[in-house]
Amino acid sequence: MVSQAVVNAFAVVGALLSLPLLLRFLGFIWLYFLRPTMIHRYVHGGYPYAVITGATDGIGRAVASELYTRGFNLILHGRNEKKMQKVVQELLHLRDPSAQGVVRYFIADATKPGHDFEKMLEPFKDLNITLVIHNVGGSNGVQPEKLDERPEEYIHNLVRWNALFPLLLTRVLLPQLRRSAKHGPVLVQFVGSLASDISPPRLPIYAASKRFLEALVRGLDNDEQNFGPPTGVRFTYLAVGPVHTASMPQKPGLNTPTSEQFARAIVQRTGCGRRRVAPYAMHAVSTFVVGGLGERTVDYYTAQEMKTLIDVYAKGE
Ligand SMILES: NC(=O)c1ccc[n+]([C@@H]2O[C@H](COP(=O)([O-])OP(=O)(O)OC[C@H]3O[C@@H](n4cnc5c(N)ncnc54)[C@H](OP(=O)(O)O)[C@@H]3O)[C@@H](O)[C@H]2O)c1
Ligand SMILES: *[C@@H]1O[C@H](CO)[C@@H](O)[C@H](O)[C@H]1NC(C)=O
Repeated sequence: MVSQAVVNAFAVVGALLSLPLLLRFLGFIWLYFLRPTMIHRYVHGGYPYAVITGATDGIGRAVASELYTRGFNLILHGRNEKKMQKVVQELLHLRDPSAQGVVRYFIADATKPGHDFEKMLEPFKDLNITLVIHNVGGSNGVQPEKLDERPEEYIHNLVRWNALFPLLLTRVLLPQLRRSAKHGPVLVQFVGSLASDISPPRLPIYAASKRFLEALVRGLDNDEQNFGPPTGVRFTYLAVGPVHTASMPQKPGLNTPTSEQFARAIVQRTGCGRRRVAPYAMHAVSTFVVGGLGERTVDYYTAQEMKTLIDVYAKGE
């Protein structure tokens, strides 16, 4: 006979153990279904600007449209000036002429060394920048080569593209961001990848470059918030799963939003106060499931999936 006291004790322990899970679930419902967007809070001061890198296609371009229609002026970055001018023209048509904002841009190949970031941002140095979306980056698809089959230059390019370009851009922008933060909230968001959580085979450099951003976000946020008087400049790492874009051939579906759907999700989650957030609800669910499965299982299935993906990319080229 188990006494009632023991049963009660187990019930209490069970309830306590499930409490974190319950809180997490409630946090999920709040973040993705109930919380109103805070994006308007970043439209403050005289002529607020958002900076978006890699803004001529995919996620970056969709985020640019979303922010422009919500009243931001834009400073866009791309590598192809012709394509950029087309994007700027299309954006300007999104708002009626009486409410038209300003869309400016700069051009730089993020994989290349030797940029003069100060000079690059000189034309924008008096502007009130309140939001930065470091979106540029990528993995060049998924290829079969291992690390020792890559030239050194390839590795430098990949790390510059995903990690150093956003880092060095942030370095030059910081004083200006602190200035804007005197009038209202300022946020710097880095587009990361769920690949960095699981480091799939054949993508270790890409995964590591995105992990770099996650560590950077926490460190920079600590720098600005917890060492001396808070400056008000905040940082967020965006945990991004599959999104259907030019560089991602997977078809749109429940777990794979279009760039437009994903851009709306970024805007919805902006300013939620988390240092790491998956803008898209299904990507948060994936992270949760992956966390519960254990590393061995995840690694096994990821390796199978990578074989399929390598074939998909090989056929697409
Ligand atoms: N799509 C996904 O499934 C997925 C998943 C996880 C994370 N992400 C991350 O999301 C971000 C955007 O990805 P996306 O799928 O939207 O890519 P995308 O459709 O290929 O667009 C990338 C944008 O960046 C620009 N760009 C590319 N390489 C550049 C370079 N070397 N220098 C300057 N600009 C460059 C492109 O310019 P052009 O227009 O001239 O090509 C374009 O504007 C990346 O950081 C990626 O790692 C994507
Ligand atoms: C930036 O915002 C401040 C505060 O609202 C304003 O006084 C200043 O004129 C703005 N600067 C520009 C260049 O718009």
